Amino acid sequence: MARGWGPLVSRPLTGELRLIHGDARRLDELDDASVHLTVTSPPYPMIPQWDRLFRDLGAKSYPAMLSVLADAWRESHRVLVPGGLLAVNIGDALRGGPNGFRLWPNHAETLLAASRIGFTPLPYVLWKKPTNRPNAFLGSGFLPPNAYVTLDCEYILLFRKGGLRRFPPHDAAREASRFGRSERDRWFSQVWSDVRGARQGSPGRRTGAFPSAVAERLVRMFSVVGDTVLDPFAGTGTTLWAALAWGRRAVGVEWEPTAFRSLRSEAEARGFRPVVRRARGSEPRLASEPEEGARGGQSPPRRRS
Ligand SMILES: C[S@@+](CC[C@H](N)C(=O)[O-])C[C@H]1O[C@@H](n2cnc3c(N)ncnc32)[C@H](O)[C@@H]1O
Repeated sequence: MARGWGPLVSRPLTGELRLIHGDARRLDELDDASVHLTVTSPPYPMIPQWDRLFRDLGAKSYPAMLSVLADAWRESHRVLVPGGLLAVNIGDALRGGPNGFRLWPNHAETLLAASRIGFTPLPYVLWKKPTNRPNAFLGSGFLPPNAYVTLDCEYILLFRKGGLRRFPPHDAAREASRFGRSERDRWFSQVWSDVRGARQGSPGRRTGAFPSAVAERLVRMFSVVGDTVLDPFAGTGTTLWAALAWGRRAVGVEWEPTAFRSLRSEAEARGFRPVVRRARGSEPRLASEPEEGARGGQSPPRRRS
């Protein structure tokens, strides 16, 4: 990440930052029940941008990619406190499969995987990104029936570990974390259409970053001042800067060496001397390869606008 690509938060950043060069599937550095909120966006299965990374993690089929993510959700469950929340920003993919071009339903798979692990699924957010190309669609002109609905929503899936988190009456940290009525009305509506996607850096260096507005909202909706917020797929650190801007502690895990180096220099450029760890045994664990393989790589139909 070049300096200056990082998302901008308009408040001073304070608090403790820990960075772990490691694997989201094995957070040995983090104790059980030591995190209050996880906010993250993993690499999306079946999006070509992440093919190589999944291959490096040993995942060559769709089921194997999903199992990489499921292992990360299991670790998130372990490190969350009872009542802690997991927020996952994920999008579906459109790509060729054994029977041609199709949808790869990442959000549905994530909902089921996290529920099977023991998370309680909660109502989720549909993040409808405003687009400059409102008429873009995939398909063949104006003749039915072979055109495709445009995928212009991503999901912010929400899960809780166990029952509600409890606080003593008039808890000072909770009171200090209060949000306003108009914020509540916007943030807790199911469709967010007021947040643009983040700038993605120079061509060929797409980071998959989400905008700081998404991270800041989630941090303020689901944690209180002084909490520890984790991003196990930290990327450019958007979640971490949002957490630090709102008085939370931040822990970021990033596996890819170049991305980790960039994240560390960005932290230093923002005035942090982060506690940096290389997780024990963080060498990539190869994903087990289920039998059923998804054949990716088929070109999508021509996009017309
Ligand atoms: C979609 S990006 C996250 C972007 C981030 N939300 C941001 O705003 O910059 C996913 C990140 O997860 C990292 N990653 C992939 N597999 C990982 C793993 N097993 N453990 C930790 N990080 C991983 C990738 O290198 C990439 O930086």
